[in-house]
Amino acid sequence: MALDFSLTAAAPETVDTDCLVLGLFQDGSLGTAARQIDQISGGAIGRVIASGDASGKLGSHTLLFALPGVRATRVLLVGLGEPAKFNAGTFHRAVHDSMRALRNLPVDNALSTLTELEVASHDFAWKLRCAALAADAQAYRYTATFKPRSEAEPKRLARIAFVATDEAAGQEALTQARAIANGVRFARELGNLPPNLCNPAHIAAQARTIADQHAGVSLEVLEREDMAKLGMGSLLGVAQGSANPPKLIALRWQGGGSAKPFALVGKGVTFDSGGLSLKPGAGMEEMKFDMCGAAGVLGAFLAAVELKLPLNLVCVVPAVENMPDGNSYRPSDVLTSLSGLTIEVLNTDAEGRLILCDALTWTAQTFDPQVIIDAATLTGACVVALGKHASGLMTQDEELAEQLLAAGTRTHDRAWRLPLWDDYQSQLDSGFADVANIGGKYAGAITAGCFLARFTQGRRWAHLDIAGTAWEEGRKGLATGRPVPLLTQFLIDRCA
Ligand code: BES
Ligand code: MN
Ligand code: ZN
Repeated sequence: MALDFSLTAAAPETVDTDCLVLGLFQDGSLGTAARQIDQISGGAIGRVIASGDASGKLGSHTLLFALPGVRATRVLLVGLGEPAKFNAGTFHRAVHDSMRALRNLPVDNALSTLTELEVASHDFAWKLRCAALAADAQAYRYTATFKPRSEAEPKRLARIAFVATDEAAGQEALTQARAIANGVRFARELGNLPPNLCNPAHIAAQARTIADQHAGVSLEVLEREDMAKLGMGSLLGVAQGSANPPKLIALRWQGGGSAKPFALVGKGVTFDSGGLSLKPGAGMEEMKFDMCGAAGVLGAFLAAVELKLPLNLVCVVPAVENMPDGNSYRPSDVLTSLSGLTIEVLNTDAEGRLILCDALTWTAQTFDPQVIIDAATLTGACVVALGKHASGLMTQDEELAEQLLAAGTRTHDRAWRLPLWDDYQSQLDSGFADVANIGGKYAGAITAGCFLARFTQGRRWAHLDIAGTAWEEGRKGLATGRPVPLLTQFLIDRCA
């Protein structure tokens, strides 16, 4: 469950809250609410600044208790950095920092005044939604596979209020924030779940729950035999080494009359061992996150349905496990895809494109969508190219590129475009089939995109490589829920 978000028009000093959040710039200047609180409390904030206990540096924060004339139990002073450099990026950073500071405090509710700070060319609705999503992202905890605690749980942030400067715009922003937060939480939870629990059948069951809980949503799940009849030799090749049977999952939302649907397709490899081209042991555990594309498109679908967006949407997830086995597909196998193109497998670890190509062909054939967007943890090369901050965007459609980049910028779920020029296609030449499944040592993210492009000819299609952005690395790294914000914003924008 996402946090409870609300608006308040009351003067901040009169609000009974566990924590009042105020902004402080590095030059000692204060936001409107902070200035007001300083006056009411007889200069208490000014004294904390003068003593050097609060610097206003970006990333810093200071916790104060029992200010005279202020009803809040605590006041959190959040550093905003230099006023001249305060922009959308530093605002985003400050709202995340403030909520991270609350994470481990025994605080059940808070009131943030940061949404009243001026951010050049960003309106109140943007600031509010950004702050609400930051609060929810920082409050999230993964608990699914720990022993249940018997002691009483400590207080944790459950409710957050924001100072309202525009009630109507504020309510709409919070409605969007709730839907996106629920989508992000869904994606994070599914991503974090271990692969012995989160297998293809579990993802199908999650899709079933989404369909059961929302009017207007229908679900179809193709089993191995259904896919065999259709001729999805590429997807089934990957799946054949696993004891967990594959599922091809399709959710539909009918919100837009007879218009052609938008289609989201997400890579759902519930564990990627590499198959016979086995991955090294170190870091292999991170490959439980190889279904984060699936989690992301399902999360965005959930958000779109919760917002009842007036459009038609399909969400397709090929869910498989990539395992070494006596029955595994092998390097040098030639697979016949649903499209009819044959594929020479030169590395069984390049499995994502092999399940996506059949899912993309099927999506195009079955739903005749106006746009197809896939999201996939597709290549380590994308992480080398762009690091952990930007998802890789590949498309030959200029307008679609602009729209997706804009949606990513607005939600701070950013993508960066890589070229999909035909010049790269020859790297996929094969002596034994129409196409090889790997493209050599250069431009691995792009050649993976080029492979998918062969299966989306004549379609408006874009590919998001989220290998770097879908989870935080390290032993305690969690799924991020990206690209749920980007995809949901893209869909919201198509309704404007
Ligand atoms: N799921 C991986 C990509 C990946 C690797 C994502 C590391 C995040 C971190 C994908 O299936 C894969 O193994 N790709 C190979 C492709 C190669 C064999 C051409 C890769 O990136 O090494
Ligand atoms: Mn792989
Ligand atoms: Zn993979």
